[in-house]
Amino acid sequence: MDLDTSFLESMDLAPDDAILSLPILFSRDERKIKVNLGVGSYRTDVGKPFVLNAIRQAERRCIELAGDKEYQPIEGHLQYIEESAKLILGDRFDRDRVFACQTVGGSGALSLAARFISQEVSRHLYLPNPTWMNHEAIFAAAGLKVLTYPYYDFKEHLLDFPLMCSSIKTMPPGSAIVFHSCCHNPTGADLHFKEWQEISALVRKQQIFPIFDNAYQGFGTHIEEDVKPIRLFYQEGHEMIIASSYSKNMGLYGERAGVFLLVSRKAATTQKCASHLKRMIRSNYSSPPLHTGRLVSLILADPQLKKDWLDELRQMKARIDTMRESFTKKLEENGCNEDFSHILKEKGFFSLIGMNLEKILQLREEKGIYLPPDGRINIAGLNPSNLEYVVNSICSLFK
Ligand SMILES: Cc1ncc(COP(=O)(O)O)c(C=O)c1O
Repeated sequence: MDLDTSFLESMDLAPDDAILSLPILFSRDERKIKVNLGVGSYRTDVGKPFVLNAIRQAERRCIELAGDKEYQPIEGHLQYIEESAKLILGDRFDRDRVFACQTVGGSGALSLAARFISQEVSRHLYLPNPTWMNHEAIFAAAGLKVLTYPYYDFKEHLLDFPLMCSSIKTMPPGSAIVFHSCCHNPTGADLHFKEWQEISALVRKQQIFPIFDNAYQGFGTHIEEDVKPIRLFYQEGHEMIIASSYSKNMGLYGERAGVFLLVSRKAATTQKCASHLKRMIRSNYSSPPLHTGRLVSLILADPQLKKDWLDELRQMKARIDTMRESFTKKLEENGCNEDFSHILKEKGFFSLIGMNLEKILQLREEKGIYLPPDGRINIAGLNPSNLEYVVNSICSLFK
């Protein structure tokens, strides 16, 4: 080969991540008044990142324990795995039916799910429209053909359950489908339990493999209540995968704490699946981070620390709920020429603000308020000092 030939120069520039590029743009913005409502992290009522006291305590204990730094098993920290499976499936889950492992964040659990589905289950996977921006990339990277099913009526700002059902009825048997167990990202619009019962029956009839993304457990209604759809599917005997995350509910974003669960019907099947899954992990990151394993397992296995964590989680949820109420009330009081009442009914961190790209960019350029192009607003980024400014700025676009 010619020495001057380059392997790399013909490459195109890949597009920036629409969400993770926002903090960079935001930090470059020199205006005094600016608000970042784009990124999916919790902020306190003075707009700061929040490290839970329960986490601080667990960290101190980790240091006191002065454990070694050996590799973890491929599936991760055993107590972390056991306690996480209980948190999702209930204390008395059937160990014969479940393979669980610690993963590198919820994204790591989804990546493992993608690879497993692609290799062992299906070539086709359906995502809700809309969904979390990274879903498509994660599942497509595993070679899956990624399709969508209708989920949200963008005009009426409502979950379109009838259309969702009729779409599921047309999916080829053997396909896989992704559901958000609670706090749908980006709409905040969730199914009622009765609707989940219908979906469970539909999925069974249509022979579709369900995957639950459980990234916001505890922010919808309650830590137990939010996994009711998952437990319903589990009790009804579905084979399924659950990808869960402690990024939001423990505030462990950068520590990369996630959980992957595979539910089968028989012990022999679980063992076979586990053997393949462990090979996939081994050939990818080999084993997950030890510190994260210890930290989370300390919280989940110690009754006092677990109680402290759940109290702090309830406080975070309550702050977001209060902001939802104040935000919608203030928009209404301001005589904003647009109906934002749907935001009050939605759950979790996000809602779609329902503005076109032109207005979203106008908000960024003229007011220093940052949202991703789909208009997803992070309610957890609102606080008593920026609320008035955000409301006035949004309303000014509709006058
Ligand atoms: C719906 C959804 N799934 C998965 C994830 C990934 O979670 P993690 O940050 O733990 O990788 C996120 C994070 O924003 C999310 O919103």
